[in-house]
Amino acid sequence: MHKVIFDTDPGVDDAMALLFLHRHPDIDLLGVTTVFGNVGVDLTTRNAQFLHREWEIPAPIARGAEKTMDPLRTDDRAASVVHGADGLGNIGVPETIDWPLDPRPAYQFIIDTVREHPGEVTLIAVGRMTNLALAVKADPDFVGLVKEVIVMGGAFDVNGNVTPAAEANIHGDPEAADLIFITPWQVTIVGLDVTMKTIMSADYLAGMVAAGDKSVKLLSDLSQYYIEFYRSRAGLDGMAVHDSTACVYLVRPDLFTVRGGPVRVVCGGIADGETIQAPETGRKFIGSPWDGQPSQFVLTGVQAEKVLDVIRAAIVEGR
Ligand code: BDR
Ligand code: CA
Repeated sequence: MHKVIFDTDPGVDDAMALLFLHRHPDIDLLGVTTVFGNVGVDLTTRNAQFLHREWEIPAPIARGAEKTMDPLRTDDRAASVVHGADGLGNIGVPETIDWPLDPRPAYQFIIDTVREHPGEVTLIAVGRMTNLALAVKADPDFVGLVKEVIVMGGAFDVNGNVTPAAEANIHGDPEAADLIFITPWQVTIVGLDVTMKTIMSADYLAGMVAAGDKSVKLLSDLSQYYIEFYRSRAGLDGMAVHDSTACVYLVRPDLFTVRGGPVRVVCGGIADGETIQAPETGRKFIGSPWDGQPSQFVLTGVQAEKVLDVIRAAIVEGR
């Protein structure tokens, strides 16, 4: 059984990933932590409460960061054009949801929960990495107790999706992401290199609705705005299931190809938020900011159809 804390900014593809984690039989969802990103943290937290209520998810929710780790940064790239003004495809989520919140801030919840299960917890972060970075800063010793870290973010051999250089989750808090990648724990980075190849068509989702229960219908309803974004902006018949792809890696790493090497994030300038991995073999660079940093895993290839089938099996059939 994989014990997981899910750090998220729901977010349409976040919502699918949440239902996946909740329903997958080999995953024990210990908690959900929210962060600003696709919309502000008030809304991402409200959306998490809404999804937990609708989908009867018992895992506690802890509210997280509302701004970047560096207070001087401003993240003004509103993602509402992608996810809707409410973050869930403008389906009309009530303004407030009567569902409990853990009293602790997200970073403290993460630290405490990892310390309760030393060596057992995987952190899956699919928004800005601010909460994780705050946890590392507050308690550097908890790092050694984390089993592994999986993040959705970055663009290595492809362009970004906010700028030609940068992907949204990294661009939204580059200093936090850089800290996560140079921290001595094992991070697997699930970036646009694989998630933009993992496209769920509108028909595929309709097939899930036909075979599934009312939770799948809600997932489909809130996804329509996002599907329309990908159709009109990217010319795709379907949606990139970024955050679910990161979650599938946890249970089916065999569906991906992986490249090792230290990863740094460009902080500032025109390539703000760009992720760059140093090669582990071949050319050696002397005296670069990658020197001596831990080798992390970057996903470079994906068996996309199989990933979609894993998502479908968990969400529709609970297997
Ligand atoms: C990432 O940014 C957000 O819009 C999505 O939820 C995903 O986590 C993709 O770049
Ligand atoms: Ca997300």
